[in-house]
Amino acid sequence: MKHSATSSEARARASWPLPEPTLAYFPNARFVPSDRDPGAGAARQTRGGVAVLDDPEPFGHVPVLAQRCVDLLTPALTRQDPDGSGAVLVDATLGAGGHAERFLTELPGLRLIGLDRDPTALDIAEQRLARFSDRVTLAHTRFDGLADALAESGYAATESIDGMLFDLGVSSMQLDRAERGFAYAQDAPLDMRMDPESSLTAADIVNSYDQAALADILRRYGEERFAGRIAAHIVRQRARTPFTSTAQLVELLYEAIPAPARRTGGHPAKRTFQALRVAVNDELGSLRAAVPAALDALSVGGRIVVLAYQSLEDRIVKRLFSQAVASRSPAGLPIELPGHEPLFQSLTRGAERADAAEIERNPRSAPVRLRALQRVGKGDS
Ligand SMILES: C[S@@+](CC[C@H](N)C(=O)[O-])C[C@H]1O[C@@H](n2cnc3c(N)ncnc32)[C@H](O)[C@@H]1O
Repeated sequence: MKHSATSSEARARASWPLPEPTLAYFPNARFVPSDRDPGAGAARQTRGGVAVLDDPEPFGHVPVLAQRCVDLLTPALTRQDPDGSGAVLVDATLGAGGHAERFLTELPGLRLIGLDRDPTALDIAEQRLARFSDRVTLAHTRFDGLADALAESGYAATESIDGMLFDLGVSSMQLDRAERGFAYAQDAPLDMRMDPESSLTAADIVNSYDQAALADILRRYGEERFAGRIAAHIVRQRARTPFTSTAQLVELLYEAIPAPARRTGGHPAKRTFQALRVAVNDELGSLRAAVPAALDALSVGGRIVVLAYQSLEDRIVKRLFSQAVASRSPAGLPIELPGHEPLFQSLTRGAERADAAEIERNPRSAPVRLRALQRVGKGDS
């Protein structure tokens, strides 16, 4: 398998903890004890130095709406050959490679380019996809680096790709590994970087941003109504002791959020942790840049599917997709000017959700919103 990752020397090592913090990160998900929880009773083994469990989903992350993704993208991937020969799918969020494995299995001629900013995810996916290695290229990059990743694989940035898949957010492996600092239910360094090689950590933000900037992050990215109070508490507290751990921050949030509010709306740390994670990883900026690049990269007849798990991301996808399906004729004209028809058409009505059976099997699918487009026209250039 070709692997253009700038690989990290520092691979985190941890045992696999309880699934609770994972579920806590998906605020709309119900906790349903399931034989898919990487939990009790399963035998341990080691993969890439990481302790994992011998369970029905051996790579720890159950792909969400996998069949729907296959149904939506396959028509674009089988235009030249029913086995996918001649077609290229970019999985922009490879994660544990669950979706990728499904496509590579069902379409034995398909080529796949898998991107992820997390080198540990790439390691895991590389092992999972080893049997398809002659058809897979992996790249360690943020997905807004799509054009460069395509160039490295010999594809143009425009109209060269048949399918694009984005399965946004963090993976179960990232959440379940306490030392990454994503989960508020376990004490760990206040880190939250999806790419351990990037420089900004959650501790940097909490210890150095001024009060107004902190409040703004909590309000915008966490939709936290006590943003101002929390920011003021953080600034007071850090003057005495800088924050280094998730537990310190959780303790402060219990103090800062009034008791009646703590009893409703989920864990009091949920929104602050989401906000810091989004800021640390520039998740929204990366998405805003990547979706237009992904649309440009699709050939006519090509398709894109995006799965979003929180409203801030889904709003961005919804807005960019509505622009893509809108007429390009000057506003106010009663007719479509020839050559100004929309370049894309929608394949979904609004956002699609997981059904009750999938949520029962995989509670992490509860908040998902899936949107998909097909390219129908050539660009100007
Ligand atoms: C929900 S997981 C994907 C799971 C995958 N579809 C599967 O079935 O195993 C999301 C992955 O996207 C990666 N990711 C998130 N934001 C990214 C970005 N801006 N650029 C590249 N990778 C990103 C994360 O590191 C994580 O591994």
